[in-house]
Amino acid sequence: MPKLIVETREGEEREIEGEAGLSVMEVIRDAGIDEVLALCGGCCSCATCHVHVDPAFANALPKMSPDEDDLLDSASDRDATSRLSCQLPFTDALDGLRVRIAAED
Ligand code: FES
Repeated sequence: MPKLIVETREGEEREIEGEAGLSVMEVIRDAGIDEVLALCGGCCSCATCHVHVDPAFANALPKMSPDEDDLLDSASDRDATSRLSCQLPFTDALDGLRVRIAAED
């Protein structure tokens, strides 16, 4: 199974085996990391699954939709590495992906 490396808000690094086919949000949530609230359940309407993605993986990620872009605009911690983790399918191609959970709004 591909590996996901998650940095929590406290700076703790967790290495998770994630099931390909789930979203990055679901992999984080299923590992019991509760900092990603994912209030809308992955419908791209809440922005509580905001993460910062290692720029080394930028080209391996799906393009950002206008809806995701709009929602991220409401996040105070947005930067060039920001993505909504529910919009990122976790695949074998993302093995070793590193994400940092964004600050709470
Ligand atoms: S879980 Fe709500 S936008 Fe990702």
